[in-house]
Amino acid sequence: MFENVSFIKSVFNLEDVPHRALPEVILCGRSNVGKSSFINSLFNKKSLAKISSSPGKTRSINFYNIDETFYLVDLPGFGYAKISKSEREKWGKLVSEYIREGKNIALALHFIDSRHKPTQLDVMLNEMLKTAGIPHFFILTKTDKLKQSEFSQSAKTLSEVLSEAKINENIVLYSSTKGRGQKEIKKILGNMFY
Ligand code: GTP
Ligand code: MG
Repeated sequence: MFENVSFIKSVFNLEDVPHRALPEVILCGRSNVGKSSFINSLFNKKSLAKISSSPGKTRSINFYNIDETFYLVDLPGFGYAKISKSEREKWGKLVSEYIREGKNIALALHFIDSRHKPTQLDVMLNEMLKTAGIPHFFILTKTDKLKQSEFSQSAKTLSEVLSEAKINENIVLYSSTKGRGQKEIKKILGNMFY
């Protein structure tokens, strides 16, 4: 598992999406929550996915081939305020169309910063995934910035805002720097694809 991981392609338009024969796991959520860091930490590679301290780094849809078994698809983060409105709308459209038209999407991972309450954009994303009938997990990121005692509050807040999120069912506490949650993610993907 995870022995052959490779970057395939970045695309900025749906027309350029590569022809795909494998099921997909999509990574989605607000900008700067740690989606790209998740890829590097999970596969233990420093720079497979591009990360930056300035948010809004991933502007394209990025495809990774995992063991010729499934594709991991890093979607651009939405909601980053410091870009023009038209560019923000373009990203929103790209992501929503990708979700709506993605026939091969087997699973979505919805990333949320564990320190923050989910926003209206998270509610919208959740609706989109629900409407498209895509199974999903919620990944609470950057838990290394929380005290152990704050973990349960973070999951509780999430489950209060998004009723689909259920403690001990579909919420994973994650940290790219500390490796927390990796085992759980590997179990989820392992059960699904291996
Ligand atoms: P976009 O590409 O804008 O959608 O952002 P993204 O969701 O891909 O976030 P990215 O992985 O680029 O991370 C954003 C910032 O958060 C970077 O400075 C990362 O180093 C930091 N970061 C990501 N994950 C973690 C984590 O688990 N712990 C800590 N402490 N920092 C993290
Ligand atoms: Mg990114």
